[in-house]
Amino acid sequence: GAPSAGQQPTTDALRDSAFLRACRREPVPHTPVWFMRQAGRSLPEYLKVREGVPMLESCMRPELVTEITLQPVRRHKVDAAIYFSDIVVPLKAIGIDLDIKPGVGPVVAEPVRRREDLARLRDLTPEDVSYVTEAIGMLTGELGATPLIGFAGAPFTLASYLVEGGPSRNHEHTKALMYGDPRLWADLLDRLAGITAAFLKVQIEAGASAVQLFDSWVGALSPADYRRFVMPASATVFAEVEGYGVPRIHFGVGTGELLGPMGEAGADVVGVDWRVPLDEAARRVGPGRALQGNLDPAVLFSTPEAVEAKTREVLDAARGLEGHIFNLGHGVLPTTDPDALTRLTEYVHTRTAR
Ligand code: CP3
Repeated sequence: GAPSAGQQPTTDALRDSAFLRACRREPVPHTPVWFMRQAGRSLPEYLKVREGVPMLESCMRPELVTEITLQPVRRHKVDAAIYFSDIVVPLKAIGIDLDIKPGVGPVVAEPVRRREDLARLRDLTPEDVSYVTEAIGMLTGELGATPLIGFAGAPFTLASYLVEGGPSRNHEHTKALMYGDPRLWADLLDRLAGITAAFLKVQIEAGASAVQLFDSWVGALSPADYRRFVMPASATVFAEVEGYGVPRIHFGVGTGELLGPMGEAGADVVGVDWRVPLDEAARRVGPGRALQGNLDPAVLFSTPEAVEAKTREVLDAARGLEGHIFNLGHGVLPTTDPDALTRLTEYVHTRTAR
């Protein structure tokens, strides 16, 4: 039906938010700020509501997801919320036996290594993740003009957890499969692209204003191997959600050498870690894409003056960009002082006010 009076101004204000404007490379009133992993262990209010609730279970409770997602927005006044979940939630939702072990990360009971294992990776339907639709409905009501970012793990990073059976430094089983059985690898990534795209669609249809594809561990690959073994599946994910017109962000760690091809995979915004200055990253990504980043999260353990100096370096390198979203170069570290994040948000807003 027609939107009631009262609803339309919120929609317009949301579309006009600094975050969404920067994603579209339009002029902004100030550089928008949000932090990967802004919800979580750095916040005492998070630790309190999570007490006694296992991580994966907390992701399936809409009221809890809503509260945790809103916590950093209230506290830091960041320009966007990121939906509280984890990259392995859609895999759990289709019946993969996995858990998130505190201090370790996702652990998969039976690794995926043979062709017959692919049968366990069935398609994801909206009914599998009805709690996501419910939570996002609650969240968009609460957030008003503040955008909500939905997210998913990219096919390579999900494949690494599935094939290794858990977190891995060298991704040796993953690479053994990728190089040793390229056919099976392509089929595995294709399955994961379908699941990831379906999960992003659920979030967009429920009201997410942007989506981020986390390919956290893809920096382990050379550009040639990225193009051959990973890019087609990630490009499929971006193409599948293109029609919604919501900005698509693509992020990985240690991906300085991959920024060119990652920019070609179909995202509107490319996330950059702290190893490459944003002006150099812009040259590598090429025109027509906004950039997101890239303060080293470890800098937040230094003095307020040092944090400001390092932040100015990021903002100076970003000065010529068409669109810049300020973020860390990777997630907030668990023992970060939350006040340092609040001060940082305020500093970027003040320093970039036009
Ligand atoms: O950014 C946000 O605030 C939204 C929440 C979010 C979580 N995981 C919550 C979480 C997001 C965006 C993720 C994504 C995620 N999960 C990634 C991509 C981002 C990145 O950091 O590169 C990856 C690789 C994972 C896999 C994963 N899940 C790891 C490595 C860990 C940490 C393990 C640990 O305990 O050190 C998790 C668990 C996890 N995901 C926690 C949270 C808040 C901690 C669990 C807890 O608090 O009990």
